[in-house]
Amino acid sequence: MAKSWATLGVDLHLEPAGPHLRRGLTDALREAVRTGRLAPGTRLPSSRSLATDLGIARNTVADAYADLVAEGWLTARQGSGTRVADGTVTTPTSPTGGPGPRVPHRPTHDFRPGTPDLAAFPRAEWLKAARRALLAAPHHALGYGDPRGRPELRTALAGYLARARARGVRADPDRILVCSGIAHGLRLLGTVLRARGVHTVAVESYGLDAHWKQLTQAGLRTPPLPYDDRGTDPADLGDAGAVLLTSAHQFPMGLPLHRGRRTAVVDWARRTGGLILEDDYDGEFRYDRQPVGALQGLDPDHVVYLGTASKALAPGLRLAWMVLPPSLAAETAAAKGKVDTSSALDQLTLAEFLTSGAYDRHVRASRLRYRRRRDALLTALTAEAPDVHITGIAAGLHAVLRLPPGTEHSVVQSAAWQGVALHGLSYFRHPEALSDGLDAVVVGYGTPSDSGWAGALEALCRAMP
Ligand SMILES: Cc1ncc(COP(=O)(O)O)c(C=O)c1O
Repeated sequence: MAKSWATLGVDLHLEPAGPHLRRGLTDALREAVRTGRLAPGTRLPSSRSLATDLGIARNTVADAYADLVAEGWLTARQGSGTRVADGTVTTPTSPTGGPGPRVPHRPTHDFRPGTPDLAAFPRAEWLKAARRALLAAPHHALGYGDPRGRPELRTALAGYLARARARGVRADPDRILVCSGIAHGLRLLGTVLRARGVHTVAVESYGLDAHWKQLTQAGLRTPPLPYDDRGTDPADLGDAGAVLLTSAHQFPMGLPLHRGRRTAVVDWARRTGGLILEDDYDGEFRYDRQPVGALQGLDPDHVVYLGTASKALAPGLRLAWMVLPPSLAAETAAAKGKVDTSSALDQLTLAEFLTSGAYDRHVRASRLRYRRRRDALLTALTAEAPDVHITGIAAGLHAVLRLPPGTEHSVVQSAAWQGVALHGLSYFRHPEALSDGLDAVVVGYGTPSDSGWAGALEALCRAMP
């Protein structure tokens, strides 16, 4: 439904109500900026007056503004309100010859979780591996490839997963499928499950909207599971045919799936023939706790294990992998298509990177660097922000900073004023999840480069209550 924004006469295509309203408003505003309907520098109405205009809650508008400030489309300054960011870059030409769509300008300090320190990508080692891989590759490796991915990479991954620090993944190269990111893997699995007659895949109350969308776009329902102080509770899976879990390190809350719940969910899968989709997005980064074993090791017939190069190397590689139960392997490969969709050269390079030991060396060095950052974050916030309670820091590249009740939105806003982009916890809450009243921000401490880290940390501390 299109609602007109009276003050500026811009049509916003919004769902009239319901749990998706905030995301709908964020998407509609982003689209208006991206396509130039809202010009750079335009001052947006206050959240109160836009809310009145649209007949929705003020907080919904305030949250949508905060999300877009964090993404770099809008700026918020005390005294001058919320404006369309001047720096949104217009690409020189579009296919029609006119100015192309805008892209957001980058915030000064980016603490949004998801991206590792891209300045630390091991360029020299990667180039060496690429050279070795290309020299060794037979000509036919450059042809249309097996949809499962290059055999060299699947063999290297099986070896890596078998030796990865006590994770216990059981992988056979024939059951590994290379894909272009975990998001792509979920889309393929969604298609296969839907074709098998599954209607529902339960997901966690907190997670990535982009991942739930992969499943809903395949025609599946994605009801959220309850979340309590022991983490995600998968006790009641209703009529779900599958469940998506970040069991080693709940994203973004940071807890591992509770021991009793691990065995219970595997029992559920065995009893009902259900499937567990195990998103192991940052399994390489554990600091001061025992590695959490993969659920897949408990029952490879009922668990799909999903891993990615996005955290340990770079998301731009778009390389991830699934270890599939035997009963799903052929169908999922067929869902990918007749030929491989990932670059053979990148796959061969990653295979060489893994087998030569360069991957392990890079992960070891990265773990040390991120651990130092995590410790520095802890020390700085303990000293500078005593009202903030830091959780979820035993693993991964992000932390959850619990805030005094009712302050999440103002902290995200004040961070934006300091040029610090971060997301409030509500950004990751499933739209159908019951609100648990938690106020927090999620801080991805992997993203700033080493040279920008000290300044970024100072700015972050200034933004805290
Ligand atoms: C929970 C979660 N899963 C998976 C990924 C990686 O996804 P992809 O492999 O599509 O880059 C991320 C990256 O931020 C993540 O946060």
